[in-house]
Amino acid sequence: MKRIFIILGLALAFAACNGNKSNNSTDTTTTTTTTTSASSSTTTVKDTVGKALIAKNDCLTCHKLDQKIVGPAYQDVANKYTASADVIDTLANKVIKGGSGNWGSVPMSAHPDLSMDDAREMIKYILSLKK
Ligand code: HEC
Repeated sequence: MKRIFIILGLALAFAACNGNKSNNSTDTTTTTTTTTSASSSTTTVKDTVGKALIAKNDCLTCHKLDQKIVGPAYQDVANKYTASADVIDTLANKVIKGGSGNWGSVPMSAHPDLSMDDAREMIKYILSLKK
């Protein structure tokens, strides 16, 4: 008789452990999901500065996000480069001075009125479109 109780007790202890385990893992999943959505919304807020600047300038007459018009699609530009301080400066300079050669012989017009800071924000936004 005693043995049965011991076995029952063990079985209950096991069940309790398993129950705890599965509770814990659901908790972890919930936390992870919340963190991910919080960090992606931070990125969106940062991007809108460059995005708004692009919309205010003439960029979209020659560029589309996902399709080549006169200039390359911004997604293609993002896929070609890896964002680093150097790359951002080089591309920001190119937008200000204009030029050709990296995508074909059609030149981009110069944008001498843009500040380097604004140009950098636009490039950061463009490079964030990497697929
Ligand atoms: C008159 C059309 C035109 C306008 C307006 C224009 N672009 Fe371009 N853009 C081009 C062309 C053409 C190229 C490809 C140049 C090349 O082959 O190196 C280009 C290339 C680029 C590149 C990639 C440069 C490289 O060397 O890979 C970036 C980034 C870019 N444009 C951003 C912008 C931004 C930001 C604006 C607005 C301030 C803008 N462009 C306005 C035509 C234009």
